[in-house]
Amino acid sequence: MNTNQDQDKLRDDMLQAMRRLAKSVSVITCSHGGQRYAMSASAVDSLSTAPPSLLICVNQSCSIYTPLSRGAPFCVNILAADQCDIARICAGKLKGEARFSEGNWHTHADGTPYLAEAQANLICEQDGHYDYGTHTIFIGRIKRVLVGGPVSPLVYVDGAYATSAALTQNLAYA
Ligand SMILES: Cc1cc2nc3c(=O)[nH]c(=O)nc-3n(C[C@H](O)[C@H](O)[C@H](O)COP(=O)(O)O)c2cc1C
Repeated sequence: MNTNQDQDKLRDDMLQAMRRLAKSVSVITCSHGGQRYAMSASAVDSLSTAPPSLLICVNQSCSIYTPLSRGAPFCVNILAADQCDIARICAGKLKGEARFSEGNWHTHADGTPYLAEAQANLICEQDGHYDYGTHTIFIGRIKRVLVGGPVSPLVYVDGAYATSAALTQNLAYA
């Protein structure tokens, strides 16, 4: 059995490891009971192409958790490198409806908000969830995909926002 000190060290070591796991930044959006919700998220991944599906990991203390736990469809808006302000706004700088004050937000036929200038919008119906510790994994069955512009995602690495860039040798051997 580990002591608390061991658990604290394990947590700190895990966080240090995760600083090295570069991730694209998305904003997860949904609408429920006439209210819109948005949250910045990096715990987003593809799940399968058969059927087209993805997963998101949401802390149960976040405001978007309640509508998602009630089954609201959601959109994963993959942010572009120049959308850092939106990432900050949706990570706590602003709350509630004010999170939609920046950016060109549209509404899908099912009522889900999506960001027009994002790198991509993946509009999903829920197809299962799994509670684990502080978080819940929600599985999204992809219903519609919009892709825009050249590939230039906003990245989060080592606790900071960054851009992605190809290694120069990739160009030589492309
Ligand atoms: C780059 C970045 C990625 C994040 N990824 C997630 C995530 O995947 N899941 C999550 O629950 N919170 C994530 N967060 C934290 C939430 O965005 C933040 O707690 C937000 O304020 C929660 O919304 P609320 O204030 O409406 O509760 C992330 C924050 C940042 C800055």
